[in-house]
Amino acid sequence: MDTAKRIGILTSGGDCAGLNAVIRAVTRCAIEVYGWEVFGINKATHGLMSRPPQAIQLRTQQVDPYLTMGGTFLGTTTKGDPFAFPMANGSLIDRSEEIIEGYHQLGLDALIGIGGDGSLAILRKLAQQGGINLVGIPKTIDNDVGITERSIGFDTAVNIATEAIDRLHFTAASHSRVMIVEVMGRDAGHIALNAGIAGGANIILIPEIPYALTDICHHIKQRQADGCDYSIAVVSEAVRTESGALIEKGHFADCRLGGIGQYLSERLSAMSDVETRVTVLGHTQRGGISSPLDRILASAFGVAAVDLIAQAQYDRMVIWQDRSVQSVPIADAIKDYRAVDPQGTLVKTARGLGICLGDQLGNQCENARQSNSAPAALATAVITT
Ligand code: F6P
Repeated sequence: MDTAKRIGILTSGGDCAGLNAVIRAVTRCAIEVYGWEVFGINKATHGLMSRPPQAIQLRTQQVDPYLTMGGTFLGTTTKGDPFAFPMANGSLIDRSEEIIEGYHQLGLDALIGIGGDGSLAILRKLAQQGGINLVGIPKTIDNDVGITERSIGFDTAVNIATEAIDRLHFTAASHSRVMIVEVMGRDAGHIALNAGIAGGANIILIPEIPYALTDICHHIKQRQADGCDYSIAVVSEAVRTESGALIEKGHFADCRLGGIGQYLSERLSAMSDVETRVTVLGHTQRGGISSPLDRILASAFGVAAVDLIAQAQYDRMVIWQDRSVQSVPIADAIKDYRAVDPQGTLVKTARGLGICLGDQLGNQCENARQSNSAPAALATAVITT
């Protein structure tokens, strides 16, 4: 058995389903396999900033019931970059040394940080400055963390969005309406694209593919002409207005996306005389019981992270690639933002299913497919997209 260690674990950034399953996996593996002690740190780095540091020792029996539960029982925060921490008087101060001191006060040998690319970048900076032995685990419903094919929370969010779309088909058909479903995802359209395909949406709009309202109207009219008088449109929250404006909710210091569904509803009903309704899924996509896939991923990531500590492999992040868990330097893992590839498999799949992505190319492909007489240039585009 490896030398006894005392490790810490924290969740940072927005919550999502599957975080508790990671904490459980880390705790079980560290205690049952290695005989170590595990401390759960409250509210991300805020717990290490507090005096005394806010952390609880975790036990196997205590964490087991959390396997399925959404959220994070350790608490988390999206506020307060420790290198420019907002104080009550409005000033920003560097509190990084307090966090580093908190880690050492707890007598930790290593720290597992579960976060998105922003949180992991901050944790890595702290680790390098303060000699923290850090291992990262990627989580975010947006699924936009660099190298990993999957992040914790994404699958549950897609399941929730898909179920909502499934439900909306019936009411949309009953009233001959265009139902617009606004989903989260920040600047990446992964949730919209995945849930839209899984839920049989007719229109999917993502930030990575510019759209024209006339193309969407054309698609709705075409469906009506084909005898389908309702449509389901899924739109990602960071899709812009046709003129390129980003729609934000309220006047807050941080950017809170939301409202593109309402914009589309108003524009489409004005332009095509269809009745529209909007459903904004919001934070429902982060809650509830985590999907089996997220629990499996969380368990695999948690065990792999503990194994990395056992091998003294620090400054690394676990990732999912080629049907297995691997690890890469955190810096490599977060250096590239992972948006939807407009030439990728799922975009091709959506086009192949006749789903309108709001762009001219999609409609041309669709028309060409229907008339079965694609011009040479277009035929090439169909093959290469
Ligand atoms: O990054 C995850 C995410 O859920 C985004 O999809 C969304 O835009 C944002 O967080 C919402 O953040 P908040 O919980 O601060 O409103």
